[in-house]
Amino acid sequence: MATCIHTVEELRNLIKPLKAQGKTVGLVPTMGALHAGHASLIEASAKENDITVVSVFVNPTQFGPNEDFEAYPRTLESDLKVVENAGGTYVFAPSAKEMYPSEDMTWVEVTGDITKVLCGRTRPIHFRGVTTVVTKLFNIVAPTRAYFGQKDAQQVEVLKRMVKDMFIDIQMRIMPINREESGLARSSRNTYLSESEKAAATVLSASLKDALEAFKKGEHSLKAISEMVKEKISKEPLSNIEYVECYGLPGLYPLENEIKAPSLLALAVRFGNTRLIDNIILE
Ligand code: PAF
Repeated sequence: MATCIHTVEELRNLIKPLKAQGKTVGLVPTMGALHAGHASLIEASAKENDITVVSVFVNPTQFGPNEDFEAYPRTLESDLKVVENAGGTYVFAPSAKEMYPSEDMTWVEVTGDITKVLCGRTRPIHFRGVTTVVTKLFNIVAPTRAYFGQKDAQQVEVLKRMVKDMFIDIQMRIMPINREESGLARSSRNTYLSESEKAAATVLSASLKDALEAFKKGEHSLKAISEMVKEKISKEPLSNIEYVECYGLPGLYPLENEIKAPSLLALAVRFGNTRLIDNIILE
């Protein structure tokens, strides 16, 4: 079983001598409830680094007051097995007190539209919580490379921006979205879905795929592509669209009428109480 560590001091004491020997370290930050998508990040890190640290921490500062912090699945025992099978070395599973020792604290915040559009509109404090905790993890582990999934595309753009702005010397490795056979993007929140909601949610990846095909065939109108996706999803009675939007890459810059390659087509849709996100790059 991968070794599980709960304190910053213990983890640093383990990693420092290994780094001094010239070993490379991969960090896979997670909130646990690990699934095949996380396993693919851990496998990628294990291939590219001598040591892989997987953090498992349900970060309270990235959840809004009415979000699912309490309900978020906590499955440390099975997470340890996933890490072991995927080739990870250490699991860092700190307490909230370890990560946030004092109520007076330092925030790391990326400002501007990049954190205000898409999920930022309904989750105004989310990205500040993500950038703060990821900075802490970067400083604790000082990894050579850090691994994130493209499923959280806005998080990826925000973190890349933070790394650039703060001159953080860590290679950002972004891994493709891991999907179930049905096309549904793997997410720890999929466990909230009923069977019928799960079946209905396959409309998300199907509509994104249609949009990419249309884009490749020459349909570059922002309105036409967005409407096409919204229309297909709306036909699914269990769905409730929060947004379907498209922004330019890199950095999520606003588009006028025409979608330029590469652009991010992203969506957030509720099925019952479960909010799912998915995206595709149009290029
Ligand atoms: O993507 C996640 O699971 C989280 O946002 C992260 C990066 C682990 C920070 O808590």
